[in-house]
Amino acid sequence: MPRHVAMIMDGNGRWAKQRFLPRVAGHKRGVETVRAMVKACIERGVEFLTLFAFSSENWRRPAEEVSFLMNLFVAVLDQEVGKLHANGVRLRIVGDPTPFEPRLRELIRRSEDTTAANTRLTLTVAANYGGRWDVMQAVNRMSAAHPEKVGNYGEEDIAPHLAMAYAPEPDIFIRTGGEQRISNFLIWQLAYTELYFTDLLWPEFDAASLDAAIASYHSRERRFGRTSEQLLAVPPAPTTGLREQASPSLAQPDSLDAEGGTFSADLDNA
Ligand code: FPP
Repeated sequence: MPRHVAMIMDGNGRWAKQRFLPRVAGHKRGVETVRAMVKACIERGVEFLTLFAFSSENWRRPAEEVSFLMNLFVAVLDQEVGKLHANGVRLRIVGDPTPFEPRLRELIRRSEDTTAANTRLTLTVAANYGGRWDVMQAVNRMSAAHPEKVGNYGEEDIAPHLAMAYAPEPDIFIRTGGEQRISNFLIWQLAYTELYFTDLLWPEFDAASLDAAIASYHSRERRFGRTSEQLLAVPPAPTTGLREQASPSLAQPDSLDAEGGTFSADLDNA
């Protein structure tokens, strides 16, 4: 089972449009898929589920939609946190909280505190998050913490300052809604993640769709820059972040042979 599943929840607006409903009805319906995914991940033993709920670029949407989404976040946090806690879910919100109204910031803080000790599933909601923002805030914190190393920082120096330092890197990234982009999601952390795109709209995505994505993940060979022959000779690298890797010499990707190497954006309308 993948340890960490990251998802861009795209297609709510189109789902609503197909039904002659206002776009926001799609977001409301999308919350049901969020619930279904939390349940499915718990049942399957996934340890980390990360959802892109609102990108740094989503502020460009019509003011009524932004306001609806903010109210939806407040309502969802308010209503669901007790249930999440009862089910052993730790909730983390990543992103820049400064533009959120005080009521939402306080709710985020309380929800995180209430669920902090839970270990069954870590549900991370990325809100006002952008991958470049994350890398830059990590660089700024890293250089403040270790000014003596300027010019000599390594990947292991930045890792503890990234917004999701508490989680292994995603094993699989799923994007619904048909677009095949990363849209400034976890750009650093997705370097070796298997990417899975589906035309299903987020409100249509269900447990069976998740199983199809996981089956695709299982069918792939994760080489981390090595050859297939090498994989037969050595145990595969763990799918965790650099700081957790047991054998750095094996785990370091060979950039020359790295395998090729995405919310829409209409999360970002990019
Ligand atoms: C993208 O669909 C979806 C969003 C911008 C919002 C997603 C938010 C939720 C489902 C609520 C979840 C709440 C919590 C607290 C996790 P879109 O509007 O870009 O769809 P489109 O591409 O069809 O227009």
